[in-house]
Order: sequence, then C-alpha cells, then structure tokens
Amino acid sequence: MASINSNFLKLKAGYLFPEIARRVKAFSDANPDKAARIIRCGIGDVTEPLPAAVRNAMHEAIDEMGVRESFKGYGPEQGYEFLRQAIVDHEFAGLGISADEVFISDGSKCDTGNILDIFGKGNVIAITDPVYPVYVDTNVMAGNTGDADEKGAYAGLVYLPCNAENGFVADLPQERVDLVYLCFPNNPTGAVATRAQLEAWVNYAKENDTVIFFDAAYQAFVQDPTVPKSIFEIEGAKDVAIEFRSFSKNGGFTGVRCAYVVIPKTVSGKAEDGTRVPLHQLWSRRHSTKFNGASYPVQKGAAAIFSEQGQAEVKALVEHYMGNAKLLVAAAKSAGLAVFGGENAPYVWVGCPAGMTSWDMFDKMLGEAQVVITPGSGFGAAGEGWFRISAFNSRANVEEVCRRLHVVLG
Ligand code: MLT
Repeated sequence: MASINSNFLKLKAGYLFPEIARRVKAFSDANPDKAARIIRCGIGDVTEPLPAAVRNAMHEAIDEMGVRESFKGYGPEQGYEFLRQAIVDHEFAGLGISADEVFISDGSKCDTGNILDIFGKGNVIAITDPVYPVYVDTNVMAGNTGDADEKGAYAGLVYLPCNAENGFVADLPQERVDLVYLCFPNNPTGAVATRAQLEAWVNYAKENDTVIFFDAAYQAFVQDPTVPKSIFEIEGAKDVAIEFRSFSKNGGFTGVRCAYVVIPKTVSGKAEDGTRVPLHQLWSRRHSTKFNGASYPVQKGAAAIFSEQGQAEVKALVEHYMGNAKLLVAAAKSAGLAVFGGENAPYVWVGCPAGMTSWDMFDKMLGEAQVVITPGSGFGAAGEGWFRISAFNSRANVEEVCRRLHVVLG
C-alpha cells in the first residue's frame, strides 16, 4: 500500500476559510429565511468588477489566440517579458530589481507555500502570531514542524507574538532564525511596519544570515507615504529578502489569478557543504519544472494594470475599498470596541466585546446580524479575542454591516 505524507495528519481539520464557509452553509440550511440577508466580510475576496483596461486587454489577447499568426502555445515559464518589465518599471523603479528577477505565477498563496521546495530540512522558521494560515500549514505539510498543542501552536516553529502592546508588529526574535515570514500591510491585522521597523528586520537578517519572506500582497492599500510598500526600499534587503506580490486585491484578480515573486540574484542559502547558492537559481529551476506559466490572456490583463487607464481604475478600486475600511473602523470604534488596521489595509482588526472568544463573536455576528467575519483565533492563538472584518465589499453592504454591528452590540 502507498504510504502517505503523515505530516498532513498533524494539520487541524480544515483550512480556515473553507471551515467558515461550511459553518455559514450550515447556518443557511438551518435558517433559510435568513440566508438571503447574509453579508460576507470573512474571506478577503474582492467584489468589484474587473477594470475595463484589464478586460479589454484580455479580450484582445483571446482574439490573438484565435489567429494562426499570433496564436501562442506554451509561454515562458517565468512569465512574458512584457509583464515582468512593466512590473519592474512601475513597482520597483530605482530599487535595482531587474525583470529577470521577477517570476510570474498564478497566485501568492501558491508562491508562499511552494517556496519551501527550495529550502532544506532543519531550518529554524519564525512566523508572526496571528498570521496568514498558509505559512503555517505549508510548513506543517513540508515536515518542518512537530505536532500542534491544544492552542494550535506547532512545535518547532518560532512564534512572534503580535498584540495591542506592539501595535501588531512583531518584535525581532530573541534567538537566531533561518527564515522569517513578514506580511505588510498585514493579513489579518491590517498593521503596517514603519521604515525603521523594516530596517531593523533587514539588519537582523544580515546579522543572522536569515532569509525574509516578505508578503506584500496588500501594498497597494498603503495610504501613508512614509510607509514602505516594498522590502526592497530598505538598504541591503536585496541580499536577504524575497518579496511576494499579487494582482488579486489591487486589480481584482482573485478569480483571474496572477501574482509574482521577486528573488534578487544576490539572496542566497547554504548548501550542505557550506557553499552559498543563489535562491534565484533554485526557484528558476523549480518554477520551470513544476509550472508552465500563467496564461497569455491573464498576463496581458495584468500588464494592462500598468497602463494609464489601468492605473486610474486600480486607484479607484483601492479608494473604494479603503472608503469601506474607514466606515468599518468608525462603526467598530463607536460600538466601543478596540480597533486596529483599516488605515493602510483593507482589513479591520477588532477586539471582541469583553468575555467573548473569537468564535463566540463569529456565531453572534452570523446568528444575530447575518454578517460573516473571520475569528481572530483562526489566525493563531494570539488572535484569540479579536476578529477581522474584510472591507472587500460593495458600499451598500458595508453600510449595512455598520448598521447591524450597532444593532448587535447596541
Ligand atoms: C484572506 O481572506 O485572508 C485572503 O483572502 C486569503 C488569501 O488571499 O488567500
């Protein structure tokens, strides 16, 4: 009989968002009269239509595919140069990143999980708590952890607590670690790191020979011009960091799928014999072996985001979602709750009313208000007592959520 990867058996029963969907379905089935009232502010999924610039570019690309002379089969595994160059010109201008350091993919969730393929066993790995669950679960699957304790914390991981005291920005680890996951603007808390905080992380990484995985999927939502959008804005980061970016949330691509990883050629890891090997070389090998590239129409659509029209449309989308975030922040504050995030991120991180757990709050919001939120404890033990409201929704729905929040919390 074929043996299995037993690491999967260490995982908690279900991934957070399918588990929420399961509970929402159970509620709808049991309360059909209330099902139509449900407003989903749980998973951070965009609601507004795809920008016209993107749709037009995708239509044109499809038409090209219908003509022998411009038909395209397999594209370059790393992504078409027109997209990689547009990314560098618009997102990394002046930061010393070149187009061949950009790898196009079909999503940051996959990238942040797949990156572990190029790292060896026995690395000391740090994650923040609360955290985007993919970082943890993929390490469990890869066998980089022991078992979970009763709070869901896995043996072998270094947890960096984020809380109201540190503004949900992790302090540097007390020990040395080989890999650390940082996400700014943060999912789930909406916190951002200042330039000084990121400089401290890069200095730590240089001193400790640590690789930083910097997840910048929400960078487009930064409103404060002093907050860095890329880790590569920090001197020296090109020697120690990999950055993950996505078109999902800024361009509305959650259903279209396109993202990228930036791996400078100067960031390296150690082989067993102690020689240093560029991570770029390993990822390139992995990517071209396991991936055949994002589709041509999708890459054309992504490139259109950098056109003048595309930029204006993305700006409008970001303004829309950040307008929602502002309303949610105000509503939660006026309900007397502690509130973080929502100023430079589409997530609002809210303290539960005294005595309630995160799942209590989930049940209350679903049962009494038919609003789906995400329980903070689903992002880690340190998220207990908090919940996340996603600002990805229509304005009318967000206004209704604010109204219902007041009714429920009175
Ligand atoms: C979230 O709600 O945390 C995100 O939508 C998850 C993701 O981007 O995969």
